[in-house]
Amino acid sequence: MKKMIDLLTQEMEAAFAAAGYDACLGRVTLSNRPDLCEYQCNGAMAGAKQYKKAPIMIANDVAACLRDSKVFQEVNAVAPGFLNLKVTESFLTDYLKGMEAEPKYGLEMPGHPKKIIIDYGGANVAKPLHVGHIRSAVIGESIKRICRYAGHEVIGDVHLGDWGLQMGLVITGLRERNPELVYFDESYEGEYPKEAPFTISELEEIYPAASAKSKTDPEYKAQAMEATFKLQSGVRGYRALWKHILNVSVADLKKNYGSLNVEFDLWKGESDVHDRIPGMVEYMKDGGYAHESEGALVVDVKEDTDTKEIPPCMILKSDGAALYNTTDLATIMERMELYAPDEMIYVVDKRQDLYFDQVFRCARKTKLVKPETGLKFVGFGTMNGKDGKPFKTREGGVMRLENLIRETKEEMYRKIREGRDMPEKEAAAVAETVAVSALKYGDLSNQASKDYIFDIERFTSFEGDTGPYILYTIVRIKSILGKYTEQGGKVEEAGLKEAENLSEKALMLQLTQFNAMMQTASEEIAPHKVCAYIYDLANAFNHFYHETKILAEENVDRKAGLIALLVLTRDVLETCIDVLGFSAPERM
Ligand code: ARG
Repeated sequence: MKKMIDLLTQEMEAAFAAAGYDACLGRVTLSNRPDLCEYQCNGAMAGAKQYKKAPIMIANDVAACLRDSKVFQEVNAVAPGFLNLKVTESFLTDYLKGMEAEPKYGLEMPGHPKKIIIDYGGANVAKPLHVGHIRSAVIGESIKRICRYAGHEVIGDVHLGDWGLQMGLVITGLRERNPELVYFDESYEGEYPKEAPFTISELEEIYPAASAKSKTDPEYKAQAMEATFKLQSGVRGYRALWKHILNVSVADLKKNYGSLNVEFDLWKGESDVHDRIPGMVEYMKDGGYAHESEGALVVDVKEDTDTKEIPPCMILKSDGAALYNTTDLATIMERMELYAPDEMIYVVDKRQDLYFDQVFRCARKTKLVKPETGLKFVGFGTMNGKDGKPFKTREGGVMRLENLIRETKEEMYRKIREGRDMPEKEAAAVAETVAVSALKYGDLSNQASKDYIFDIERFTSFEGDTGPYILYTIVRIKSILGKYTEQGGKVEEAGLKEAENLSEKALMLQLTQFNAMMQTASEEIAPHKVCAYIYDLANAFNHFYHETKILAEENVDRKAGLIALLVLTRDVLETCIDVLGFSAPERM
């Protein structure tokens, strides 16, 4: 379905042509003076020079041609030559009826849908998720849903940090605690136990302790490096132990991500491409892409147009070990082979910006991807506390994601119980749903690349630009619809009618912007645009709600028309929160 703004432009272009001017001048935009008009066209200003005429004369000529327009109710030529526009109620209502009838409220599907892989989450095995991971999960999930809604085929991959020294450290820590474990007996040839010899809480204690110790104890560090080497070269017991670490950790990660409505299609990790590395290294050497530099193997990625220094991409360290880069490049190779995506999007902390620049350049230079394959880095800023520094616990430690979610739920629960008489159990369930909206909206409503301040007080408020406010609006609509049904009304039978007051028309106009907004959000990979839109839409709805009798309306037909408008508003709002990755309760 065409966008509203394009239909209006079409009508305006025809009028310019009919008045004897270039049709191209007829571009219509949203009004920047909503107090005066709904839309505007500045084409007469642009045409003045070309036609050597005062803009107001051109505007008047065009306005005259629109006197009988079925699209524009008002066309005012105002000095010095603007065209201020209002659309007819009938055109607006028809447009909304068209939206209702379309599967995605009029969002056009791409002619050539893309296959996109989104690399997000990026959790590290055996380390608890901390608040730094929340942004990748929340933003990535929303990008995945937006692109899917926009008609693309999207695969989300968690890309676990499950290889390398961090694993060697955990194994060394375990060995220190339980040297008797059969996994460390290299002469053992039997089957290994099915049960992991540790719980997730133990695992989460082991890593930080081992990591700290390795920093002060070189002998311990050497052991960890050896354990890493043994694991990577396939020593049976180490592999078996690593599998346990992976399983225990992934089960816990799934639980945590699940509580945020974050789901991955692929649970792959750095380890999955281990076996591809030797072949890739050979390929890079044979192709003449990689060369030795101070014992290491590197690929130069600087370009003549660079304004800052871009260091070479290191493929192997001088001791022959692979790096973070190496696994990322091998992953690109694997993805091309297994999925042949048109695009890969990485949702990672923006401090890895230069790193991804190097990796992408290297992948292109070495032809791991096709020239037309898109490689996009969506770098996000830091989540800060009220002091403007990276978010910490009250004690000053790193905040675990689990605790952050719990604290938000508790705050939400308190607010919901306060002043409402809702049974405890329902309040707890509602608090959970609303807390997810508070966290996610609080994050997504900011442009991803910006830092933002995590303010639990503000995020959980039912007023202002917050998730709970959006949900509250949806719940309000649901409650009216519920009452209408109780009164014997049939929601499904209600048909849209023309607006009878200004706030009603404003709500309708806001609804028409859905398809254009969603297209921009997907093209620009910008979930914050969905947030901005639903905030405006919720405001437009609440304004309308306060000015309009709905359930008390006596004219049955008019009442049904209002109900239909409510249904469409609810559906558009729910579609939007779904792509943002949260949902609304039935009441709150
Ligand atoms: N595990 C990494 C970290 O915690 C993030 C991974 C990002 N994705 C990637 N393909 N490198 O920093």
